[in-house]
Amino acid sequence: MTQTPKQPVISLKDIVKVYQIDGVETRALQGVNLDIHHGDFLSISGPSGCGKSTLLSILGLLDTPTTGQYLIEGIDTSTLNVDQQADLRNLHIGFVFQSFNLIDEMSVFDNVALPLTYRVPTMAAAEIQERVTKCLAQVQMEHRIAHRPNQLSGGQQQRIAIARALVGEPSIILVDEPTGNLDSKNGDAVMAMLAELNRNGTTLCMVTHDPRYAEYAVQKCELLDGQLQDMVPLQEAI
Ligand SMILES: Nc1ncnc2c1ncn2[C@@H]1O[C@H](COP(=O)(O)OP(=O)(O)OP(=O)(O)O)[C@@H](O)[C@H]1O
Ligand SMILES: [Mg+2]
Repeated sequence: MTQTPKQPVISLKDIVKVYQIDGVETRALQGVNLDIHHGDFLSISGPSGCGKSTLLSILGLLDTPTTGQYLIEGIDTSTLNVDQQADLRNLHIGFVFQSFNLIDEMSVFDNVALPLTYRVPTMAAAEIQERVTKCLAQVQMEHRIAHRPNQLSGGQQQRIAIARALVGEPSIILVDEPTGNLDSKNGDAVMAMLAELNRNGTTLCMVTHDPRYAEYAVQKCELLDGQLQDMVPLQEAI
């Protein structure tokens, strides 16, 4: 008996992105097709200028493709207006950036709680408290709940950023060069934490130009001149 394949979390169909600046045309993405399924840990690597950030911006609904179709959980994002896209982003996507992007004027608790404060309908304070505490425990940072981000090390700040990405229980977390601002010891610790979260079910898509960190992913693909090369599952790559 054949099983119906599960619907992907993310589905990109023939995505093209063309930037036009002063009459100069740059084809940053040239027909990208990609499915990401629940539980995947995908790394996308490739040289500078190959289109990694462009692809991540489109996946994060921070930019729109020139042509092609982008579905999240089966929803065609091109049919949504800006507010609906923002709601979809808030509900389904968590972000971890190279530069942490935490707010120094707010406590660790408030930073992690932030994505929940945009939820409609409003989430009860007790539930926010419970979720934030749980996510800080997942990244082993409960003991720093009242600190400000600038009172923490880089590795600790990135763990807070991971907790903030987890708190909304998104369908997928997009990770952009998570170790770029960390020394190798903290970089390794953050990558080990991401791999552990994935083993516990979190779906991740990470962009990195560091082949050493791409090794932590389960599915790996390369972007070259705006085109995705074939995916290599890790087991077959070894
Ligand atoms: N806003 C923009 N306007 C015009 N061209 C852009 C813009 N953003 C990116 N590009 C161009 O699109 C191409 C892909 O850029 P992108 O930033 O996606 O590469 P990248 O793989 O993230 O590179 P890096 O590893 O250096 O961060 C490049 O040729 C870049 O110059
Ligand atoms: Mg980039």
